[in-house]
Amino acid sequence: MDHVDIFEAAPRSPGALLRIRAEAGAIEARYERARVRVEAVSGGIARVRLAEAAFAPARTWDGVRSGLPPADAAVGETDGGAVLELDGMRVALEGDGAVLAVRGADGATWLASTEPARWGRARLDRLRIPHRDGDALPAGNDGVVLRQSFQLDPEDRLWGFGQRTGGLDRRGRSLTNWTSDTFGIAHHRGTDNLYQAQPLFLAAKPGRAFGAFLHVSHFSRFDAGAGHPDRLTIDALGAELDLFLFAGPTPAAVVEQLTRLTGRPLLPPVWALGFHQSRWGYASADEVVALVDTFRARELPLDAVHLDIDYMRGFRSFTWDPQRFPDPKAFAERVHERGARLVAIIDPGIKDEPGAGYGVADELLARGYALRNTDGSPLRGYVWPERALFPDFARAEVRDWWGEQHRTSLVENGVDGVWNDMNEPTAFDRPFSTGEARDRPFPLGMRHGGTDEAATHLEVRNLYAALEGRATFQGLARHAPGVRPWVLTRSAFPGSQTTCVTWMGDNNSWWEHLAMSVPQLLSMGLSGMPHAGVDIGGFFENARPELFARWMELGAFYPFMRDHSAMGTRDQEPWAFGEEVESVAREALRLRYRLLPYLVTLAHQAAASGAPLMRAMGYVFPDVEATFDVEDAFMLGRWLLVAPALEARCRWRTVVLPPGRWLDFWSGRPLADEDAGRSRPAVVEAVPGRPPLLLREGALLPLGDERSSTATPLSELRIVVSAPVDESAFEVVEDDGRSTAWETGEVARTALRSRRTVGGLIVEIGAREGRYRPSPRTLVVELRLDTPPDRVELDGAAVEARWDAARRSAEIAWQDDGSGRTITVRGGLAA
Ligand code: GLC
Repeated sequence: MDHVDIFEAAPRSPGALLRIRAEAGAIEARYERARVRVEAVSGGIARVRLAEAAFAPARTWDGVRSGLPPADAAVGETDGGAVLELDGMRVALEGDGAVLAVRGADGATWLASTEPARWGRARLDRLRIPHRDGDALPAGNDGVVLRQSFQLDPEDRLWGFGQRTGGLDRRGRSLTNWTSDTFGIAHHRGTDNLYQAQPLFLAAKPGRAFGAFLHVSHFSRFDAGAGHPDRLTIDALGAELDLFLFAGPTPAAVVEQLTRLTGRPLLPPVWALGFHQSRWGYASADEVVALVDTFRARELPLDAVHLDIDYMRGFRSFTWDPQRFPDPKAFAERVHERGARLVAIIDPGIKDEPGAGYGVADELLARGYALRNTDGSPLRGYVWPERALFPDFARAEVRDWWGEQHRTSLVENGVDGVWNDMNEPTAFDRPFSTGEARDRPFPLGMRHGGTDEAATHLEVRNLYAALEGRATFQGLARHAPGVRPWVLTRSAFPGSQTTCVTWMGDNNSWWEHLAMSVPQLLSMGLSGMPHAGVDIGGFFENARPELFARWMELGAFYPFMRDHSAMGTRDQEPWAFGEEVESVAREALRLRYRLLPYLVTLAHQAAASGAPLMRAMGYVFPDVEATFDVEDAFMLGRWLLVAPALEARCRWRTVVLPPGRWLDFWSGRPLADEDAGRSRPAVVEAVPGRPPLLLREGALLPLGDERSSTATPLSELRIVVSAPVDESAFEVVEDDGRSTAWETGEVARTALRSRRTVGGLIVEIGAREGRYRPSPRTLVVELRLDTPPDRVELDGAAVEARWDAARRSAEIAWQDDGSGRTITVRGGLAA
């Protein structure tokens, strides 16, 4: 960030310490011009607040959970200050000026303020908030910016920060937290911010990680070492520093602490983990049904089709075009009969046409639910339907009303999921048809809300989509009770993960964007939003065949896998690039479907602890330095290392192998085995259709059979076993895939264990636990060995194990009745 002054006049700062008090689990301090409270929130979570006068009141729209299990914290006074200690983290206030230091239990400094906080009225031009000509920052706290700088550990990588372009480590960048519609060409590596605002990060180095969440929904910005390499500067409007600190000590622990606070990610219905086909421009019910038929005819697995704005009557949300989609219900049935689901887009920009028979607009105005200018008039801007009004989601009654809109037009017609778009929110200054439409920022002084919780636009803009998402999710839950809602959103804020899946918005059909999707999705996972995807093939411009093929290969590992492209671009369905590409796409889809039992288990892990499905190498190997800066490979859960082809004509690539033994998933061949004790590079082959995929030592990987959609139940559960050094364990979690019954324990859990013995291996498949009963199926155990085994026993009796030389595996199978089994393998493993 430019270190020019952002203050209109000389800023204020806390001044001398007047008194400091340590109480149960908290420190309260008064300075001449500030109060500070440091408090233990829950295990591993502390909160630091600093404000000149009273702290902002808690708000109903606040995504942060209250009533968390208490922390075990110790508080003590020090010479001229006080310290709060919890779970290996010490948060200290030291002397005058509210100097804050965060340290580890060993005394090492994690973050330390370099100077007292400063605040004052902000200079709008220096803040670089998009605004309208003549706009001024409103009076009061909304116009006041607070700046706090911290010293950073030179070794720390700064991860997280939510939805961004560029690399995994965001050190050296200026990062704005302000939802905005930044599309296409602007998604280059250096772009500051996109659609979402996630003011949070992890600071990690080998052996230690901690995290922070700036709990400020106002505009804010981090200078993460841009102005000074070892300094983090936070600027936040709203006149308050409200910082949650997460003690770690690992990246996984930070993500758990973060999502304990902001809410665990939703568990998507299983169809949503399948493949989604979309494009802006599918123009009729018949075209969409034919599309599904083509997938079926070509044996390309598919679970969902998306309806972009073309299904609406003149871009009016909650309507259907009467000519092209004459009978929505019959249409949805045709899609369902073909084993697919329907997702429909909704834009919050509601066509401004009262009295024209569009009930949504009439009600929005009649009830006074639209966003208003400070003079009370409804705010208008141009979106797809031309002049539009915007619901004020900061009000609970508006959210209820919004949820209600989904009943007749979508849920009762059979729509399965909702796609919330343009919800930064976006508006343009004139109709698109003029060809000159430009972004039209909302007025800064605009007021949201009813009576008790009125807020300015500066305070809640970042929350707009999160609040819309909550309204949509709750509406769907209400109208289809017991069915797991599925909502896809473009914009988001921490907390959105509890109700929404997200995607990265309008990217381009460029190799660069394919490669960047890896650090992008890893960052989302590290930011507590594991269910995210990138438009496969790219949205703008024409994908070239090889790019599309490689994108499908990588997309098979995205938590959310969707092919989508813009109006006017070339066809981008898997068959649109000729036979060769189609067969690569088919292989990718088959792999995706085989991975589903694993993905479902990982989704359960995410719902339980926030653990991402796609994991940064340093997340899985937090002590291994060599993994920390890897951003062209990742772990899918703990067993699979994915090293995708990210460049044109790639046939081979290198990958950093963390210590341990790694097998090529396809051939079963071990990689760089002689150096298994340390991290080392390996060269892997990237044959089209077979993305470089490595199986970790000790893997107990659940796979399913190939299906055309999740509407067909699994007929096989396969456990792929690679021998551990000594022992290994994993738990497979299953549920009915569509209802909310999993929340009350309708799940099935199968504990898997493997153990090395002298000259062999023991694998235990635990008895299935829990109330959910999967449909009848075969259980296959696929033992990845070095050579054919001498003998395999199932519960003590010798069995015939089929040896597959192509992937070096011995396989045994039985009808799965949920009872526990023990497999004893003798021989088959190199010493
Ligand atoms: C926005 C969305 C894009 C969609 C288009 C038309 O650009 O990001 O996915 O296709 O609007 O609705």
